Amino acid sequence: MNKGSKSSFEVRPTAGSLGAEVRGVDLAGPLSGSTADELRRALVKHVVLFFRDQKLTPVQHLAFSRLFGSLLRVPYVKHMDEHPDIIAVLKEADERKISAFGNAWHSDFSFLEAPPMGSVLYAREVPSHGGDTLWSNMYDAYEALSDGMKRMLDPLRAMHSGRPYGVAHAPKGVQTSRSIAIERGNRDADREIAHPVVIVHPSSGRKALFVNAIYTTRFEQMTEAESRPLLEFLFEHCIRPEFTCRFRWAPGSLAIWDNRCTLHYAVNDYDGSRRLMHRTTIAGEPLVGAV
Ligand code: SIN
Repeated sequence: MNKGSKSSFEVRPTAGSLGAEVRGVDLAGPLSGSTADELRRALVKHVVLFFRDQKLTPVQHLAFSRLFGSLLRVPYVKHMDEHPDIIAVLKEADERKISAFGNAWHSDFSFLEAPPMGSVLYAREVPSHGGDTLWSNMYDAYEALSDGMKRMLDPLRAMHSGRPYGVAHAPKGVQTSRSIAIERGNRDADREIAHPVVIVHPSSGRKALFVNAIYTTRFEQMTEAESRPLLEFLFEHCIRPEFTCRFRWAPGSLAIWDNRCTLHYAVNDYDGSRRLMHRTTIAGEPLVGAV
């Protein structure tokens, strides 16, 4: 029970910086309006919410996701034929020594003009051990910077591109699980989009860093070489263990995260096991900067 409220579910933080496990709610629904409101508030507060032992059909997964916004079909990644708003994030047991989808710190599709508000990841089949996911808190990463660094970053904008899917900056020799069917070599993905380096979150009003190592290429009006030292400092800074949490999946676990104030990382340590997750993506708005 949430202290001081009439909520019928429990919210237990899982780490000091972000993440909370929600107990006592069946996401198969239907959920009442007040429960949905409380879950939305809990997401703003804890940034990532975890649920266990949920038995969801794809249709119920979609309905739960829509409580947080309209759904987005992201480019360059195949969605399921029978459920075109769901991506099957799959690595087969025989897919050894290759990258897994999301196996680097990132926020999802930050190169879109309106980056996703969030994602809902539901575990269908997971290894007996390994295959965890980590998140980091970009509010806390911003807060921990010196006042001088904050003042310098506040007015800056950085360029993001879909480089894993493009030509100009395509990573060399990276082979991702065939099962996820990522489209590569598409010149449209090379287009750079500018976003504020420090955003003001539309719900919390708090400032968060918004850069990530996969999609952020450089600062606006600077070269990549000029941008690299400061970007690399920020990429390292954002994933300090104090800003992170880690989730151990079981079949029926579900996570929902706010993509605008977190990064996440799928740990690829389960060669020889099958891992199947269903992911929906919630649409977002263009981001607003701090200055
Ligand atoms: C993702 O980046 O959306 C995938 C996360 C995961 O599979 O744990």
